[in-house]
Amino acid sequence: MTGKRSIVVTPALPYANGPIHIGHLVEHSMTDFWVRFQRMRGHKVHFVCAADTHGTPIMMNAKKLGVTPSSLVEKFRLEQIETFKKFDIDFDHYGSTNSETNQKISNRIFTALEEKGMVEKKTLMQSYCETDKMFLPDRYVKGTCPKCGAVDQYGDGCEVCGTVYSASDLKNPHCAVCGKVPVEKPSEHLYVKLEDYRPFLKEWVPKHTTPEVAKKLAEWFDGELQSWCISRDDPYFGFEIPGHAKKYYYVWFDAPIGYLAALDESLKGKGFESVWNDPKTEIYHCIGKDIVYHHALFWPSMLKTAELATPTGIWVHGMLQVNGAKMSKSRGTSVFASTFHKHMDPVYLRYYLACKISSSIDDIDLNFDDFVSRVNSDLIGKITNVASRGAQMLAKMGGSMGQLSAEGHDLVAKAQELGHEVAQHYEDRDYAKAMIAIRSIADDANKYFDKYEPWKLVKSDEDGTRQILTGILNLFRIMAIYLKPVMPSYALKVEALFDEAPYQWESSKIILEHHKLAAFEHLLKRVEAAQVEKIIEETKEIHAANAPAVDPEKALGIAPMINIDDFQKLDLRVARIAAASHVEGASKLLQLTLDLGNGVKRNVFSGIKSTYKPEDLVGKLTVMVANLAPRKMKFGISEGMVLASGDGSELALLFPDVNAKPGQRIS
Ligand code: 2FM
Ligand code: ZN
Repeated sequence: MTGKRSIVVTPALPYANGPIHIGHLVEHSMTDFWVRFQRMRGHKVHFVCAADTHGTPIMMNAKKLGVTPSSLVEKFRLEQIETFKKFDIDFDHYGSTNSETNQKISNRIFTALEEKGMVEKKTLMQSYCETDKMFLPDRYVKGTCPKCGAVDQYGDGCEVCGTVYSASDLKNPHCAVCGKVPVEKPSEHLYVKLEDYRPFLKEWVPKHTTPEVAKKLAEWFDGELQSWCISRDDPYFGFEIPGHAKKYYYVWFDAPIGYLAALDESLKGKGFESVWNDPKTEIYHCIGKDIVYHHALFWPSMLKTAELATPTGIWVHGMLQVNGAKMSKSRGTSVFASTFHKHMDPVYLRYYLACKISSSIDDIDLNFDDFVSRVNSDLIGKITNVASRGAQMLAKMGGSMGQLSAEGHDLVAKAQELGHEVAQHYEDRDYAKAMIAIRSIADDANKYFDKYEPWKLVKSDEDGTRQILTGILNLFRIMAIYLKPVMPSYALKVEALFDEAPYQWESSKIILEHHKLAAFEHLLKRVEAAQVEKIIEETKEIHAANAPAVDPEKALGIAPMINIDDFQKLDLRVARIAAASHVEGASKLLQLTLDLGNGVKRNVFSGIKSTYKPEDLVGKLTVMVANLAPRKMKFGISEGMVLASGDGSELALLFPDVNAKPGQRIS
């Protein structure tokens, strides 16, 4: 081992706008595994985190609850600290991005950016709600998707057809808070000129991410790096930008600075630079793949300009899936950490996550059936049972270990040797591989146990039995040491069983012979499927109770009111479908010739191909907008529109009563 390393490690900062859920636990657990491993190896680790407190959603939530945003985020911060502790995720310091420290460092970094000419001003048009007196972020404007017509979509993209757009593209836009139609208003904002960092970033990114991530990120550099807007208008819960009255740092500006602030606070007066800017210090951020842009582009650029060290590595993990799908409130898989903890010892989750996590960015699937069977077969059946049986048997024989046999010695030496491999897997964050290696020791121990059948041998040969049990227990002890980064609470029980000081990685080099065991305490029970069921049922109930009351009018997404004059501008007419045909190359369209009588015919393209065969339509009456200005489409000019209902995938035409006559006005 080289000398003592100095390391700063952080997971991403959870928003202080709700409880910790299993998604957070995945990231924070895997970070904690690594930290505990390094500490067992004798290295100095600064493990810090904070609540991410600023932004519009938190401000609006506080308003709804009738509390100040500061008190709301503080409440969640304290709750987050408690929750992480319950899962053995133990930070040196858990700060808040709403702290004075964070404000001071944010100002320092912003000033550096401004002084070095990295900030530009641009005026942009933005949706503004006259009622709420605020600019609306895209998530606060709702309306009809301009592409597929789905109602009640957010201003940043359609959840039905996946189209990405900006709020100003929405049809029938309305404020998500009050329902009024927003206006477009100009506002001047501050932007970081990211393109100016291109040469630096192009070199930096591949050196500080894994090859898998770097490959994906290479495409960012294909086009221009868009300037990054770092300001928000009043009202906003955040820090006002010095020299720019009524402008606030965008939450994503001061969030990563929270890493520095948390480190600073943890150092109690020594100043974060004493560690952060020490060339010997390694700095790692563990994050989900959804926020790589912020950490691999914005963050190093900000740090470089402020003459602060950039991270040594950005560790990117995949997103959590539960039972093969995105977490779902209605299926009860969007589990809060507190619910999990109420029904199950967190050690099971930590073990299972370790079995599933590698350094790749593939999504991580927490499959609850697999969880139960793997925990029971591996952790209980393979690893724990052999030790429990061995220790209990030895207790009946006075509780003292004996001497290893030659065979036992070889097995222990093999397990000790395996420590190098296990350590390398931990170092590489390939926890799944570490768990496989550790289980191979359990396999050896079980084979050894079964081969000598100590439960039979004890009747005739107590010394021989003691020898076998000494082998088994040494193997188990080594496994517990290797498992300690993942299962510290379990290791604690094993330390008590062997009456030893807290294990370090090097403790595996020791062999215990003629050693007296403490009284046997149960290590771990099987996990029951019923516990999982309770977690899921309770999660469903929590989400159902918290679901906002659905306003039936709002759910229908009825467009803003129009007056009778507006309506009368529409000229709706009965038309006979004189001809209908497929359109070559169009997957959704039919071409219709609509006869309005009096010799007036209209050519109309309509997206009804999935519902109707052209031959079934010919001769039928339908309803059309007769005064819609002709539109040039890819396949020709459409002179009007037929009325149809549906969600875009299956459309049903309106058919008037057979007594209606082509050309008649509908009013
Ligand atoms: O995506 C999120 O949940 C953010 N709160 C993460 C912030 S990480 C860091 F930059 F602060
Ligand atoms: Zn409004």
